Amino acid sequence: MIFGVSPGWPVVLVDGHVSLRPYRRSDAATWSEVRRANQTWLAPWESSPPGPWDELNSPSAFRYVHRDQRRSARRGESMPFAVCLRGHLVGHLNLGNIVRRAFCSAYVGYWVDSRVAGQGVIPTALALAVDHAFGPGGLHRVEVNIRPENKPSRRVVEKLGFREEAYHPRYMHIDGAWRDHIGYALTSEEVAADGGLLARWHRLRATAG
Ligand SMILES: CC(C)(COP(=O)(O)OP(=O)(O)OC[C@H]1O[C@@H](n2cnc3c(N)ncnc32)[C@H](O)[C@@H]1OP(=O)(O)O)[C@@H](O)C(=O)NCCC(=O)NCCS
Repeated sequence: MIFGVSPGWPVVLVDGHVSLRPYRRSDAATWSEVRRANQTWLAPWESSPPGPWDELNSPSAFRYVHRDQRRSARRGESMPFAVCLRGHLVGHLNLGNIVRRAFCSAYVGYWVDSRVAGQGVIPTALALAVDHAFGPGGLHRVEVNIRPENKPSRRVVEKLGFREEAYHPRYMHIDGAWRDHIGYALTSEEVAADGGLLARWHRLRATAG
């Protein structure tokens, strides 16, 4: 199959009240408000450059974040999505470190505003993104690395049926130290029989009542 530099990008993905779309310059104020309001919720799980949280997450900092995201997406190295609930920006999901050729793989990172946590926003977003990655995105494998202590995030991938496949000691510098991570992954074959990850997620939710 022949693809352009960034197959599958840009795109908008929707399931019910949850949508994923590329960021816009006009997201600066909302992005900053959400990030600043969630410092204690996000900081233990994210790698971030040194500096005060409010400055790193100011509306003007968003300009640089947005510029880097656009550049990387144009090169086909990532698909950085704003996660929206009923049209409001409430989180982030990135298919990053995309490597093609014989690997065709991406790493996923995500977060959601604590004020809407526990509503299945990120599992829905992840299922949408994975189906897109395995379809128009032309990828074969998606990987998520999570600190063992991060039970909510591990629940997200375990609910969706990601395979736990690795333990990475001192994997990433987060919140002031090198932190171990558990590696989870899915390949396209593993969701094909279910008609995709979103279909699997819908069935799981329906069964859970
Ligand atoms: C991990 C995270 C993205 C999950 O997103 P979400 O949209 O809330 O996902 P879910 O609705 O499926 O909830 C996942 C789990 O969080 C827990 N949870 C539920 N409501 C919650 C709440 N109000 N507050 C905190 N955790 C809650 C539950 O254990 C839930 O699992 P369950 O469905 O078995 O009950 C979110 O907790 C988050 O942004 N955390 C901070 C950043 C982070 O950890 N990013 C990932 C790094 S790998």
